[in-house]
Amino acid sequence: MRVAERIATPEGKRRYVRALFATIADRYDFTTIALSFGLDRRWKTRLVNLASPAAGARALDLATGTGDIAFALAARGADVVGLDITHRMLVLARAKRREKFVVGDMMALPFPPRSFDIVTTGYGLRNVPSLTIAVDEIQRVLRPGGQLVSLDFNRPSNAVVRAAFLAYLTLVGAALGWILHRDPDTYRYIPASILQYSDAAAVARLLEARGFVRATYHPILGGLMTIHHAFRS
Ligand SMILES: C[S@@+](CC[C@H](N)C(=O)[O-])C[C@H]1O[C@@H](n2cnc3c(N)ncnc32)[C@H](O)[C@@H]1O
Repeated sequence: MRVAERIATPEGKRRYVRALFATIADRYDFTTIALSFGLDRRWKTRLVNLASPAAGARALDLATGTGDIAFALAARGADVVGLDITHRMLVLARAKRREKFVVGDMMALPFPPRSFDIVTTGYGLRNVPSLTIAVDEIQRVLRPGGQLVSLDFNRPSNAVVRAAFLAYLTLVGAALGWILHRDPDTYRYIPASILQYSDAAAVARLLEARGFVRATYHPILGGLMTIHHAFRS
């Protein structure tokens, strides 16, 4: 069955995503650098600059993976918790530095309401089976006035750009999948999930529809990637 069919339902996507990230965790840092030509670090710095945490700010980094954004927030003086559904990702994160990491699902956050000043996520929102449920959870754990900053791929609105971008990700992803996992399908999830995801403007509209205010998005690489920034009302 094709990846797009396997992630077509919320339950199918949940199962697929869980298995995928457990499989690729040990190669995650390498693949991220390879697919982004090393630019990913710069984008994450931009996200953290937008969040601009005050010293001691309570920050939650969702889908933290191997912890890049959590570490960058901590380096700026924030008090950070990183959360991820994949235990192996957090083992790798903890091996780099001792921050607070918890295993959890961003659609059912294990924190009381209004616990955080900042919620960040890198390539997190695109992976959840229900974006609305995840956004509502983020809203719940943020204090009024708290901010959400999210970096992710965007689905370009121009058909030619979109086709070229998805072809690049499919070809390079298939090559990396074969080399690293002997399975060319491994990274086909990326283009499939981009096609399934809303474009940047629609994500901003959804944030505002669910109670965020001043939702903006900042295009990166001519709009191939996006950083969303919004505030809890
Ligand atoms: C592409 S990685 C991003 C890692 C890191 N944020 C970064 O920017 O490098 C996506 C992460 O989302 C996690 N993830 C997927 N679904 C999740 C969910 N429902 N709740 C929490 N984490 C989830 C995966 O385990 C994986 O570590």
